Formats: sequence, structure tokens, C-alpha cells
Amino acid sequence: MRKLPVELGDRSYPIYIGSGLLSQLELFTHHIKSKQVVVVTNETIAPLYLPAVLKNLQDYRVETVILPDGEQFKTLDFVSQIFDKLLACKFSRNATLIALGGGVIGDMGGFAAACYQRGIPFLQIPTTLLAQVDSSVGGKTGVNHPLGKNMIGAFYQPQCVIADADVLDTLDDRQLAAGLAEVIKYGLIRDAEFFGWLEHNIDALLSRDKQALAYAIERSCINKAEIVAEDETETGIRATLNLGHTFGHAIETGSGYGKYLHGEAVAIGTCQAADLSRRKGWLNDGDVERIIALFKRAGLPIVPPEQIDSDRFLELMAVDKKNVDGQIRLILLEKIGMATLPVDVARELLEMTLKIYGRG
Ligand code: NAD
Ligand code: GLY
Repeated sequence: MRKLPVELGDRSYPIYIGSGLLSQLELFTHHIKSKQVVVVTNETIAPLYLPAVLKNLQDYRVETVILPDGEQFKTLDFVSQIFDKLLACKFSRNATLIALGGGVIGDMGGFAAACYQRGIPFLQIPTTLLAQVDSSVGGKTGVNHPLGKNMIGAFYQPQCVIADADVLDTLDDRQLAAGLAEVIKYGLIRDAEFFGWLEHNIDALLSRDKQALAYAIERSCINKAEIVAEDETETGIRATLNLGHTFGHAIETGSGYGKYLHGEAVAIGTCQAADLSRRKGWLNDGDVERIIALFKRAGLPIVPPEQIDSDRFLELMAVDKKNVDGQIRLILLEKIGMATLPVDVARELLEMTLKIYGRG
């Protein structure tokens, strides 16, 4: 097992990465300081992994909340079901919440923990690759709104992250690929050597080679933990984690939550960001080709959906947390391994990418 620190002063916490972690009782008991525990998961993950987690909680009073599965349920209404359970059970302010699932459950469970009685401790047990390499680390929690993705939320750090690589065995290939989109992101924004490693090892990752996966998870978490330690609330460098996300969130919102997986939308959005970075004169044609080729080899989509035209993209991109005074700001690439902070982009240049890139 590897233990990586997320250094945030008195809110620091460990990320445990390894095999067989769900059955390591002491990982749970060490981080649960209360008698009352609520496990939040969904109807797909519950039959797979809830029994293993509950086995570690026999000495606690445990309640479970099993939510429906899907991005379309990442809403305030469904977070309310968690509050309903906590209140109906008269759970106190020191009760512990365990979020067992992918990014949707992690974001919702974390948000419920941030809000219930103004904050109760919570543990992240990420069960998708995407959640293990990104969403479970760093304390971004929240839900979607019909008018914008992740628009309601809070920064709220967990007590620990338990990333058991064994649970990825039951993840389907499409979801695995979606997670790889966020892995590739770290190479692009700050770790060119890792990008090169990914170019050489993408087939091993897709065939679920355990060693390759463990390395990719660890290196991604090291990158994420360093960024979060430097800029917890995204006043600077943390925004680079949003490479491709402004386009991607527009794709998710514009096509209806759940049609594109988050990682798929990010893959397309990152290709659009690469195209725009070339138009800005930063990336060259060869860089853009390498980026698109890697997403393609990972089995990810690389062109935006036809039904979202340039005007609709602009409308959707106007709702983004990086925007200032209504001006769209984007993370672009100066080179492979170096992202910009949010930049204003000339409308004509952005429209060229939206109208030309991937439009046949
Ligand atoms: P997800 O949570 O919807 O999980 C994907 C699917 O896999 C679901 O159907 C889920 O039930 C299933 N699943 C999960 N674990 C499984 C397993 N081990 N075996 C079989 N099936 C399993 O999607 P995701 O890709 O994990 O997360 C996407 C969400 O994360 C989005 O809402 C996105 O906005 C959010 N996100 C948040 C952050 C952050 O920093 N908080 C970062 C990136 C993404
Ligand atoms: N996934 C973006 C962030 O954590 O900031």
C-alpha cells in the first residue's frame, strides 16, 4: 500500500492506494471518530462493495443511503435524501459519512457532509478510475443545476481517501477510458514525462495491467495532491485542472447530463483546447496530433456533438466558474506539460475552434 499526503495544515489527510484496502479494518477505524456512520452509495455499487465496507463497521451504528445511479441524479433533491436519513436517525454533528462510489457519489456525499449541521467528517472511497485519480482528492464537492454543471457546491476536505485498485476489476471499459481522460490531463498540464509514459503504456492501461494502473493512479494523485496543497480553493494554479472542462461541461449540459460521460466530454474539450492553443500560436501541429492521437487510442471521443453548434457552445460556456464579469476564460496549453492560468480568448479565435475543429 502507498500512502500519499495531501498537505493542508490541520486539514491534511492521507490517500491510501493499493490492493485489498476495502478489507483493511484499521484504515476505517483509524479515521472514524464517532459511533454513528452513514454510508452513501448507489444501486450499482451497493451489491458489489457495500458488504465489504459494512464488515469493517460492525462496532458502529451504521445507516445506508442508496441513491439511483447516474449523473442526472446529482442534484439537490437527491442530496436531500441524505439529509432526510441523517435527520430521521438523529445523527449528531460528529457522525461520519462514507462516500462509496464514483465521482457522482463522492461529490454528492462530500457536499452532504459539508452541509449537515454545517459539516461532519467524511471518508472518500472512490470506486472508478476517474474518482481515484481526481474527484476524491482535493475537497471539491457539489451538485449540478439544470443551467450549469457543478454550480452548487463547497470546498470540503475528507478525512482520508481509500483507493482500492481491485474495485476497478468490475468497472466497464467505457468507464475506464473516461478515467484515463483525467489521467492524460495531468501529463498535459504539468507532467510532460508522464504524458510520454502514457503514450508508451496506454495499451497496458486499457488491458488493465495492474502495475501500469497502480503507477498511473499514484502519479496522478501525486500531481493532484501537489496542486491542491498549493491552491486549495482555486485562486490560481488549481484552475489548470480544468483543462478542457469549459468545453466539456458545455457538452455535458448541452447534450443532457448522462449522455456523455464526464471523462468523454473532457476528452473532446481537451482536443478543442489543444486546437485553440495552436491557433494562439502556442502548440504546433505535431503537438495537437499527439494529443488527439492519445485520446483516440484511449478509446475516447475527440469531436464535439453536431447538435451543439458554435452559438450554443458560447451560450453554455458563459456559465462557468472561471468566468469573470461574463467574460469566458479558458485553460490552454503553452506546450505539452505546461498549462496556462485562465486566459481571456479573442471571440473570433474561439469561434474558429468551435466552428472548424471536428466539424468535418
Ligand atoms: P460515476 O460516479 O457516475 O460512475 C460511473 C459509473 O460507474 C456509474 O454507473 C457507477 O455506478 C459505476 N461504478 C462506479 N464504480 C464502479 C465499480 N467499481 N464497478 C462497476 N461500476 C462502477 O462517474 P465518475 O466518472 O466516477 O465521476 C464523474 C463525476 O465526477 C462527474 O459528476 C464530475 O463532475 C465529477 N468530478 C468531480 C471532480 C472533483 O474534483 N470533485 C473531478 C472530476 C470529476
Ligand atoms: N477536478 C478539478 C479540481 O479538483 O480542481
